[in-house]
Amino acid sequence: MRTILITGAADFIGSNFVRMMREKRPDVRIVAFDALTYAGNLENLAGVSEVSGFQFVRGDICDAEALRPWFEGGLDAVVNFAAESRVDRSILGAQEFVRTNVVGVQILLDLARQFPVKRFLQVSTDEVYGSLGPTGKFMETTPIAPSSPYSASKAAADLLVHSYHHTFGLPTLITRCSNNYGPYQFSEKLIPLFVTNLLAGQKVPVYGDGMNVRDWIHVRDHCEAILVVLEKASLGSVYNIGGDCEVPNIEITRQLLRLLGRDGSFIQYVKDRPGHDRRYAMDISRIERDLGWRPRIAFEQGLSDTVEWYKRNEDWWTRIKTGDYLHYYDRQYGVGGVVEAAAAGSRS
Ligand SMILES: NC(=O)c1ccc[n+]([C@@H]2O[C@H](COP(=O)([O-])OP(=O)(O)OC[C@H]3O[C@@H](n4cnc5c(N)ncnc54)[C@H](O)[C@@H]3O)[C@@H](O)[C@H]2O)c1
Repeated sequence: MRTILITGAADFIGSNFVRMMREKRPDVRIVAFDALTYAGNLENLAGVSEVSGFQFVRGDICDAEALRPWFEGGLDAVVNFAAESRVDRSILGAQEFVRTNVVGVQILLDLARQFPVKRFLQVSTDEVYGSLGPTGKFMETTPIAPSSPYSASKAAADLLVHSYHHTFGLPTLITRCSNNYGPYQFSEKLIPLFVTNLLAGQKVPVYGDGMNVRDWIHVRDHCEAILVVLEKASLGSVYNIGGDCEVPNIEITRQLLRLLGRDGSFIQYVKDRPGHDRRYAMDISRIERDLGWRPRIAFEQGLSDTVEWYKRNEDWWTRIKTGDYLHYYDRQYGVGGVVEAAAAGSRS
């Protein structure tokens, strides 16, 4: 692999993936493409962006013309992280979710047909499977049954990817991962929201009875699994990725209270989210058996390291809470930044 296009590269998982690639595959040239919506933060790529062999491009995956030059230039791989990903926001309005998560993926797939790439990996989610009862796990063969507009749009993307493999022989791969946590996670999600609230002496809002169960995985483990699938999996395959670690939200809340020296009075139970899935759990035996991957970071250790990271990086999350992070791109590249960003990249 010589050149990889990483879309949604300025987000939580995408930026962790870029860092890991720099470390593990320093010779691979990275084109990092991101629209920098409210969820994208170019500061997440500070440090890597100055290194040669890296190019940041501000652009929308629904804009084929913005993407075309990179495909024309020849790509070995595309890894698509770009998405609207917040369930609560998808309940308020689904249009952006369909635009980016469905239309954007179709545009990427059509470009990959026109300018052949060796591997096209779609980063998907366990949420496409819907909700589990108290027992059982999601397998790759579990029927898709999404319950929120977010997960429905991700499921639609998975089906499109599958269809392009089947119909056109596109060299696709799909990974479906469970809930991630770790450094650089935007502060709307449960763990960063709770950590930053507790650090600021504020209460934490727990949905319903707090007994919704998620299968938690450290973002580093997720990124390593994506690389393994990208490099080793058979084309057309789907792989579940998970932490093999089911934890109810209330248990995470208690662990965070303990790590941050706060008591139960900091819990505020709030009305449950409509259609809130009760339990997710991933069967990861296929990726273990076929590709020899397993998560390595134990939840207690990963959570404690994450809390320490948020303590050390108060400036980073304060800039998110105040909205200042939205100006980072302009400060880096100035007016007309898209052109300047491309030019800066071309020095590499
Ligand atoms: N966070 C999780 O726990 C989790 C679990 C499984 C799968 N995933 C998937 O992983 C991916 C990344 O998740 P995340 O939590 O880091 O996402 P995020 O919502 O934090 O970030 C999304 C990124 O995509 C960019 N983006 C949005 N619309 C775009 C567009 N039209 N064109 C180009 N860029 C655009 C945003 O600027 C942002 O950088 C998503 O596809 C998500 O569905 C996330």
